[in-house]
Amino acid sequence: MKRSKPLVIIVLGPPGSGKGTQAKLLSKKFGLKYIGSGDILRARQKLNDFTGKKLTEVMNRGELAPSFVVVKILGDKLEKFKKQTKFDGFVLDGWTRIIFEAILADEAINWYKWGKGSKVILIKISRRESLDRLTKRRQCKKCGRLIPWLGEFKKLKKCDKCGGRLIIRRDDNVQSIKKRLEEYKKETIPAINYYKKQKRLIEINGEQGIKNVFKDILKAIK
Ligand code: AP5
Repeated sequence: MKRSKPLVIIVLGPPGSGKGTQAKLLSKKFGLKYIGSGDILRARQKLNDFTGKKLTEVMNRGELAPSFVVVKILGDKLEKFKKQTKFDGFVLDGWTRIIFEAILADEAINWYKWGKGSKVILIKISRRESLDRLTKRRQCKKCGRLIPWLGEFKKLKKCDKCGGRLIIRRDDNVQSIKKRLEEYKKETIPAINYYKKQKRLIEINGEQGIKNVFKDILKAIK
């Protein structure tokens, strides 16, 4: 079914809440482009220029990347979407992390005539659950697949999709996770309140199985 306006969904939540997991499921279900701000910035690091090197240091410490870098990369991506003839919308995983980015995202969506705003989903989990999930998760070095520390996944020695080597993400250590939680409280909560005030925020309990979280999201955005 062709939508009259592209669908724009923002997925927010503390580190490890399942933003990436749920954003990818939404992208598949609705045929939306997936934009993971963390993935994009990790790819940017690999250019290994001044900004690439500095991003590696900042992100490994669990601090936020500067907005001018994030906004430049994302702005270029949105411009490319505008040129596509078949475009149903996009889902943003982990952008917007500060109130300034939230305002800019609204401005961009309006600029490209994709509607007046976006649906904003907040996946809620406790601090304890964040730490627990992130210190235990593994990631495939080759395809990037995240392997949760759950049931059968615990036994995996290699990626179950591509056979790649399993590694620990560089910022998944206790010190960096605590810093990411601090940044979330200080910077992202005000952005969340910006959406809340406008009655655009959909709050979801993230402390249930992946399928049930997804079911709740689908019910809420209908
Ligand atoms: P980013 O990569 O986005 O990291 P994060 O926000 O810390 O979140 P994670 O990716 O660790 O977790 P997630 O919520 O996506 O959960 P996931 O699905 O992986 O950002 C990294 C860094 O980039 C930031 O620290 C910052 O420096 C920078 N950055 C990014 N965006 C920025 C921006 N806009 N501005 C400035 N800087 C920016 O799931 C976690 C684990 O739990 C996995 O193992 C998963 O399989 C498992 N899991 C998922 N759902 C469930 C469930 N329901 N039950 C049990 N396990 C589950």
